[in-house]
Amino acid sequence: MQVSRRAMMVGSTLAAATRPADSRPRPGRGEFLWGVATAAHQIEGNNQNSDDWVLERVKDTFDREPSGDACDSLHRWREDIALVKAMGLNTYRFSVEWARVEPEEGFFSTAMLDHYRRICAACREAGITPMVTLHHFTSPRWVAGLGGWEDAGIADRLARYCERTARALGDLLEWGCTINEPNAQVNSYIVAGEGPPSARELATRAEAAKAIGSDRFHAFFQGDAFKVRDNVLVAHRKASEAIKSVAPHVKLGMTLALQDVHAGPGGERLYRRIEEQARTPFFQAADGDDFIGVQTYNRLYLGPNGWLPADATSTLRGRTGEDASPEALGAVLRMVHGRCRAPIVVTENGIDDAGDALRARYLPAALEQVRAARAQGVPVLGYIHWSLLDNFEWSSGYAPRFGLYAVDRQTFARTPKPSAQLYRDLVAREIAA
Ligand code: GCO
Repeated sequence: MQVSRRAMMVGSTLAAATRPADSRPRPGRGEFLWGVATAAHQIEGNNQNSDDWVLERVKDTFDREPSGDACDSLHRWREDIALVKAMGLNTYRFSVEWARVEPEEGFFSTAMLDHYRRICAACREAGITPMVTLHHFTSPRWVAGLGGWEDAGIADRLARYCERTARALGDLLEWGCTINEPNAQVNSYIVAGEGPPSARELATRAEAAKAIGSDRFHAFFQGDAFKVRDNVLVAHRKASEAIKSVAPHVKLGMTLALQDVHAGPGGERLYRRIEEQARTPFFQAADGDDFIGVQTYNRLYLGPNGWLPADATSTLRGRTGEDASPEALGAVLRMVHGRCRAPIVVTENGIDDAGDALRARYLPAALEQVRAARAQGVPVLGYIHWSLLDNFEWSSGYAPRFGLYAVDRQTFARTPKPSAQLYRDLVAREIAA
């Protein structure tokens, strides 16, 4: 078990700013985390009580296809843990689904909490550290019907669910991620020009509201981006306090979407806006946390009206022509270290690649970036690859393939890709070094 006794002593009510600096995890203390990540809605299947399930079904939906059975991990989670183990990894990041744990406001499902408890226990039996995300995009439908993340009540709602979950799982937990990519919406909103929601978005939300018998519907990425940002920051703080009040030893952080963003020709104004409005507030909020989660996939250049196409400086192009240069990860790690005092865990990094040949080039180069950053003194505590399985990639449906394992859409059989073995070998080499 990697939990440091000192970390367990951190008091629940101690404000982050006054916490002694050395109570946080540090490189060299405890094992480096080598892992893979997944998220509930993307792999479990039949997440019918979630807001996204509703949005996947409305007329004119933005989603390419519904999530349906996903990878059936709700039933096949033991198999998933065995795959993590087969790669010689010591960490599995997965998410608990709020829509299952609290299907109706104030009703907490003991059976579902027991289910997630079994997953944590099985991880530990296999020598794998569970890292649990409390909120990975989806919320229960009733939350969307109360105004979702635009409603100020969200912080207390999330905190109550987090407290109940931490009460149920806390003794098996060591690492927790409160909210996944809380900065993504405000970032996209600024890049898209900060206009009002499209008629299509309003229509799909009105239909979703009708479907759940409410007068409104706000999923995680919907509504006033600045209100959502401010609510999300309060929610992170309240959720962290709630978890620490019952499980003070759990190391907590937010996992941020952080691409390697540059101002291209004419992109200075947008770049500044992103820095000030979509990055600085999150770095400040994360500064006193136990860790900050970094999720990097691309290098991106801003023009006057949004992202510019990838240019000749790209060292690797992804499936859709995006700039997937592995150097982006190293650049982001160094940037984050300069902006935030929290130690870093790479909580997601990977590449969408149906054929697996790109991944074979990407993976060793990305790990090299991590090694170089650590050698330069960047406090990186772990690297967690996205993803264990080919899974449901939100509005893009099942087309993208981020998995180290392929999943048969009829039988749910998992088949290792060559990169699963490659990752195993690379990690074994790193551990031996
Ligand atoms: C996100 C999420 C994951 C994605 C992954 C690949 O960043 O959107 O955390 O759910 O599947 O990043 O796009």
